[in-house]
Amino acid sequence: AATFPVEANVHPTSDEQREALIDKPAFGQLFSDNMVRMTWEQDTGWSQRKVMPYGPLQLDPAAAVLHYAQEVFEGLKAYYHSDGSIWLFRPDANAERFQNSARRLSLPPLSTDDFLGSVAALVQRDVTWVPRRREYTLYLRPFMFASEPYLGVRAPHQVDYCVIASPSGPYFTGGVKPVSIWVENRWFRTGPGGTGFAKCGGNYAASLVGEGRGSEHGCEQVCFVDAATGTYLEELGGMNMFIVHKDGHLETPSLTGSILPGVTRRSLIELAGDEGHEVVESMIKMSDLLEDIRSGEVTEVFACGTAAIITPISRLVSDEFDVSLGEGQPGQLTMHLRERLLGIQLGEVEDTHDWMWRV
Ligand code: COI
Repeated sequence: AATFPVEANVHPTSDEQREALIDKPAFGQLFSDNMVRMTWEQDTGWSQRKVMPYGPLQLDPAAAVLHYAQEVFEGLKAYYHSDGSIWLFRPDANAERFQNSARRLSLPPLSTDDFLGSVAALVQRDVTWVPRRREYTLYLRPFMFASEPYLGVRAPHQVDYCVIASPSGPYFTGGVKPVSIWVENRWFRTGPGGTGFAKCGGNYAASLVGEGRGSEHGCEQVCFVDAATGTYLEELGGMNMFIVHKDGHLETPSLTGSILPGVTRRSLIELAGDEGHEVVESMIKMSDLLEDIRSGEVTEVFACGTAAIITPISRLVSDEFDVSLGEGQPGQLTMHLRERLLGIQLGEVEDTHDWMWRV
């Protein structure tokens, strides 16, 4: 992996203060002492690799990202194991997706070497910021954006890449509690040929109006359907979805181009397969899902992603229906898969796929 020289940090957080901060942090609110930064110029490529003190970025008001949203990001976690070692989960998969996202937004793809090198350099530098409580991790956020001051709409000539690290607790507070989801039928997250498969900020911005409508109806999350027909299940605002049938087989929406190819999604397909559960990737009609829940054919529904791991879903709501399942309790297979995946990530369950990377 590439090397990122470390700059001095003259104002590090004291040991005592840091220990207090990382004991029980919320999700995404606290940041470690340092960050990675690197710059790309059209003529010279990537340069100025460094780990430097965390702090505000100086950005020209004309920076293209502020106007045309050329930005992509990743999310992955550093896990503390009971022997004191620190590990990442499938960072090579994040590196690959970051490249695909960058290409879609006409940003320069970052090599896997630079991606892994930068993430590892920051984790090593801020290793004392990795929380040690179960389900608490150092959430890593690599991101890239067009920084050149130019108001013409074009592929950027200057781009910045950063990695920041956030000691974080569970994405949803209050334990593994099933969530209600609002099935949005008016505003879509993306469309055919759009940016759905790319992890770009715009997709998340576009999800918020749906999430707002959901919250007006008492729902914690929003679920989007396909923009072309308004009938097929796609994903939540920031998580993929799975359905468990009563015979034990699973279904998840296929990667049509408008769905984010989740690393957790991909891993659960393999984990469920290991245990003899068939997993079908298909186009799932919302009307079929509702009917299958009502008839008892579908017994569990859950969402998954890096931040929230696996979150059970107990209710689907729209202005046309309100369907509950599982009597407000998390499903059995849902919880089993969650424990298995988390077990691998925490070094408690054997990592037969070689997914874990020691930092
Ligand atoms: C994840 O890391 O799971 C994400 O998709 C980012 C999230 C905070 C929306």
